[in-house]
This record gives sequence, C-alpha cells and structure tokens, in this order.
Amino acid sequence: MGLADLRRTYDGTPLTEADLHENAMVQVARWVAEARDELESATEVNAMSVATADAQGRPSVRMVLLKDLDERGLTFFTNLDSRKGRELRENPYAALCLHWQPIYRQIRVQGRCEPVSRDEVDAYFATRPADSRRGAWASEQSAPIADRAAIEARMAEQSLRFPDDDAIPTPTNWGGFRIAPDEVELWQGRPDRLHDRFVYLREGDGWTRSRLQP
Ligand SMILES: Cc1cc2nc3c(=O)[nH]c(=O)nc-3n(C[C@H](O)[C@H](O)[C@H](O)COP(=O)(O)O)c2cc1C
Repeated sequence: MGLADLRRTYDGTPLTEADLHENAMVQVARWVAEARDELESATEVNAMSVATADAQGRPSVRMVLLKDLDERGLTFFTNLDSRKGRELRENPYAALCLHWQPIYRQIRVQGRCEPVSRDEVDAYFATRPADSRRGAWASEQSAPIADRAAIEARMAEQSLRFPDDDAIPTPTNWGGFRIAPDEVELWQGRPDRLHDRFVYLREGDGWTRSRLQP
C-alpha cells in the first residue's frame, strides 16, 4: 500500500461564523484551551512548527513549543544564535502552524517576530528544570559537533561550573521570540474535504474576517 492510499475522513465539529470571537487572539486561545482539554494527556498540544526565512527568502521550518499566548502574540524560547535565531535577525517575518490531528484542527499564523524582553526570558528560564538550564549553556544550538561524547562533555563542564541548581543564570544568547500576528487562519477538517476555514486579517487595532474555500 502506497502513501497515496492513506486516507482519513476529517469528521470535525462544524465551525461557523457564529462560533468565532471577533478578536483573533481570543479565538486562538479558545482553541488552544479546547485542544488542551481534549488532548493534553495524549500529546504535546503546544508543539508548533515555525517557519523562518533568510535574507534571500529561503525558508526553513522546525517544531518549537508555544510557551505563552496573549494579545501581543505567540511566544517561544530558543537559542538566539541558532539557525532560526540568525534568520529572524535577518528577516523578522515568520509563520507558524499548530496541528491537532485527533480533532481535525489547524491554526496558521503569520507576522513579525519581536524579541521577548530580558525580564520575561529570565522569568521563564527560571522555571525550567536545572539540567535543561545547564543544557542551554552546553549547546551552541545548530552548530556542528564531532559526536555525542563531545556534547556530554560540554554538559559535564556546565555541571561543574554551575553546581547549585538555584544559581544558573540565563545565557545571554538564549531568549524568546513573540510572533505578533497580522494574519490568523482557523481550519476545521470536515467530510469530503469540504473543510471550514476562516481567516482573520489585522486592521488597525481590530480584525477583519472571511471564510475561505476549503
Ligand atoms: C516537539 C518539539 C518541540 C521543540 N521545542 C523547541 C523549543 O521550544 N525551542 C527550541 O529551540 N527548539 C525546540 N525543538 C527543537 C527544534 O525543532 C530544532 O531542532 C532546534 O530549535 C534547532 O532549529 P534551528 O537549527 O532551525 O534553529 C523542538 C523539537 C520538537 C520535535
């Protein structure tokens, strides 16, 4: 059986105009909360793909974890010297996609990325397990390394350098980005590939909204 034979019916709850909040970010928060209620025990509901592009417009994409969500946008944390970090310095526009397969839903967001303030970064960093904090020091994310032993040796160095779990500072090249949305699409899978799609476009302080063909 080939990949072309894999076929599922997307039998999601209908999504209608009446279900939608006028504020796109409120609507995104509702869907994230619903996904959490239904799927948290089974899957990482805050996993999302984030696409960036370099100065020549060549895209790259990877998964990250959505760690905060409010009127200002959607936040994730990472190494600022990683490939995505470098690309966002060259070109601050990004796109993200959240997908919850069991409930046949997808959210797409596009917008400009702003660095998260150092205070917010420090506050989040402090919540991470101590060895994840040491790991942030040990890894020059996205740079090549000879072998597994080399990264474990770098981690061991950080354990000697920061023996106290309560005294591990945030690396200066570790931080966060907030994607401030100017376009948000909600997609609800429906039978016969006649999916429900609504797109919000930022207009001044508010949003306009329209239904898209599936
Ligand atoms: C489910 C999942 C969640 C991830 N979350 C993060 C994250 O929050 N931050 C991060 O820097 N990398 C995260 N990663 C690793 C990234 O996908 C990626 O490998 C790394 O950030 C380097 O990407 P880059 O070289 O494009 O910068 C995650 C990977 C997966 C599969």
